[in-house]
Parts: sequence; C-alpha cells; structure tokens
Amino acid sequence: QSASLAATPPMGWNSWNHFADKVTGADVRATADILVSTGMKNAGYIYVNIDDTWQGERDAQGMLHANSKFPDMKALADYVHSKGLKIGIYSSPGPKTCAGYAGSYQHEEQDAQLYASWGIDYLKYDLCSFGDILKKEANGDRQKYFDLEKAAYDKMHKALLATGRPIVFSLCQYGFQNVWEWGPSVGGNLWRTTGDINDTYDRMSVIGFAQSGLEKYAGPGHWNDPDMLEVGNGGMTADEYRTHMTLWVMLAAPLLAGNDLSKMTPETLATLTNRQVIAVDQDKLGKQGHRVSAVGPLEIWEKPLSGGAKAVALFNRGESASPITLSLKDVAFSSGAKLHDLWSDQDVSASSGSYTALVPSHGAVLLKVSK
Ligand code: GLA
Repeated sequence: QSASLAATPPMGWNSWNHFADKVTGADVRATADILVSTGMKNAGYIYVNIDDTWQGERDAQGMLHANSKFPDMKALADYVHSKGLKIGIYSSPGPKTCAGYAGSYQHEEQDAQLYASWGIDYLKYDLCSFGDILKKEANGDRQKYFDLEKAAYDKMHKALLATGRPIVFSLCQYGFQNVWEWGPSVGGNLWRTTGDINDTYDRMSVIGFAQSGLEKYAGPGHWNDPDMLEVGNGGMTADEYRTHMTLWVMLAAPLLAGNDLSKMTPETLATLTNRQVIAVDQDKLGKQGHRVSAVGPLEIWEKPLSGGAKAVALFNRGESASPITLSLKDVAFSSGAKLHDLWSDQDVSASSGSYTALVPSHGAVLLKVSK
C-alpha cells in the first residue's frame, strides 16, 4: 500500500471492544450517525470498522456472504460513505477467524474483490486459525513458519492491490516475530505490536508503557498498533482514560474508539475529541514518542513534532498523587521555551528551566514545548 494511505495514524471506531460478537449493521449505522452528530468525525474519527463476527457462509461458487446481522453490506457501506466516513472490515488468513467465523484461507482474491465491490476502505487481517496451519506446515522449522506467515499477509496485500481500490491494510498477529521489522514489506499500514487490550488500567498500561523502543519503526503509511481504545467502556477512572489517550497519542498510535458511542458521557467525548491532544497523534512528521526517564513510577516521555516542537508527557504510574518535575534540558530545550498544557489548554511557566506538575495517581499531564 502507498504511504498516502494512513499518512497519519488511522482514526475511527471499531466494533470489537464494546460490541464483540453482538455487533449488527444497525449498530454500525448508528455509530456513523453519532460520529457526525458529536463532532467526532470533524475531530478526525473517519473509519467505521466492523470487526469479527459479520461473516456468514460461502456459497457454491465460494463467494462469502455476510450473516443475517448484516443484511446488506453494500448498502451499509454506501450509507457510511454518504456521511463522509470510511468503512472497514475484518478477516483472517486462516479458515476460521478468532471468533470461529469464515476466514479468507484459499479465497483471498475472491474476498478482496468482494470487499472492493462493497466499497470497503480498511481491512484488519487477523492471524487466528492460520497459526495452526503454520504450526503444522512448518513442523518446528521456525524460519519456515515465519516465511509462510509473511507470505500469507503478502498474498492478501497483493489481492487488495489488484482490486485497484485503496484499502488500508491492518496486520493483526499480536506482535510476534518482530512484525515491525517486516510489516511494511507485506504492505502493512499498521500492525499490532501486542496481544489484546482490555478495559483495565493494568492491561492498558502494561501494553502502552512497553512500546518505547519501537519508535524507529513507525512513520507515515506504516504504524505500530498497540491495539484499540477502551476510553468510555467503564473499567477505568477518568484519570486512567486520560492516561490511555495521552499514551496513545504519544505513541502515534491508531486512535480507534472502542466504546458504545450511543451511551457516551460528555467526559468520554471530551477525552476522545480534545483537538490539541489529537494533534499530537496526527502530527504530520509522523514520529512515535519514547520514554526519556523513569524514576520509580514517575515517567517522562517525549515525541518530536513538526516545526521543532515536542510533546512531553508526565506519567504517574504510582498509587498516590505526586509532583513530577520536567527539566527542559532533559528534552533538549532551554529556559526560554514555551509550555502549553494540552488537556487544560493553558500556558504554564518554566522560566527557571523546569516545570513541576502535581500528577494524580495513574494520571498524566501532556505538554507541548516549543521555542
Ligand atoms: C483477536 C484480535 C482482536 C479481535 C478478536 C476478534 O483477538 O486481536 O482485536 O479482532 O480477535 O475475534
């Protein structure tokens, strides 16, 4: 896929984290409506992605049909497009998806053509049962396993290219075999770097804080994907969700909301749509941030932005509120630098060459630092 696809990390919504196997076409339509009515679309949330469990059976010609929860995929895609949004879908290189539905094994070209005929703009391609085929065929030969895995992703990439339709290609194989090193060579616009997230601070932070070091593999058209957002799903506090969002924008991660937008609180909407926070994620330089320091549970991260600025995040992973002091020299700025707190939209002063914020337990402060 070309770098003009996913020039910045993809933003949108995905059905899995909240709806899982209960998702219906009606949910997807409602989501498209709400993305527009809440301003999420204008904030950049463009992709409406259907995850696993939309699939029905293949007919005698091998043509896959959606199941009864998605009575007319083409009409659904047309509807989503009519709102100025894009639509995504999900499959596996294996015969079965992770939830046990039909995968694309031995039907790759046919499925790619089907997606294009519906008007699909994004495919998440999830290893799932193909792992069993790999184990069997490779029979303990690690190199063979790896080559066959890459070939399977490359096969779908070529099938997507052959449709002539630009389709974002999202690799999902949970971050094994250093996928960040070969993801671009099989056309990946993004690749999961980890196993599944869930709606807990523990899981979110274990994933997010482990991403430092992968920054050199991310850039326009090809992104590390630490999995989808859980903001608004109810298992974390407001501070923890803010940390989730702060960490994801520092990582230049795809921002795929995973909540039920029809039941979103104003607080959830505010967390998802803060324009200045989103701008850190979507910065056109396309650099992923990394950890600068960690003192016990207190961490400072930086992310280079266009125009010579930096985003700097102060994270408190500890169990009680704590001051965190940023020394401007630690992020290569001098005492004349300007600091803006992005969540509170306020300038803060670092005239003495440092800035101290009181950061709540499991909380974060996100600053933009410029000359
Ligand atoms: C895997 C993926 C998840 C989701 C489910 C669907 O677990 O990692 O993101 O797509 O499959 O079955």
